[in-house]
Amino acid sequence: MTQAIRAGERPIQVEVEAGKTYFWCSCGRSTRQPFCDGAHKDTGFTPLKYIAEESGTVFFCACKQTNAAPRCDGSHNG
Ligand code: FES
Repeated sequence: MTQAIRAGERPIQVEVEAGKTYFWCSCGRSTRQPFCDGAHKDTGFTPLKYIAEESGTVFFCACKQTNAAPRCDGSHNG
């Protein structure tokens, strides 16, 4: 199986809007990190849909190793 690419070694801070839908890149290939740009085609990966419950700052995982996707859980340190 194709592996996720580490798109970064730190989470990416994004100001999200309540009720808005975001598509987190799970494959690491997007050039619009942390979000999907369609580059996962033919990799077997699909983006993860995330609906913001409230407006505020979210730390999205960039290393793609998180167990709390789409949020950073500190796995980039491991
Ligand atoms: S580009 Fe990575 S999941 Fe779509």
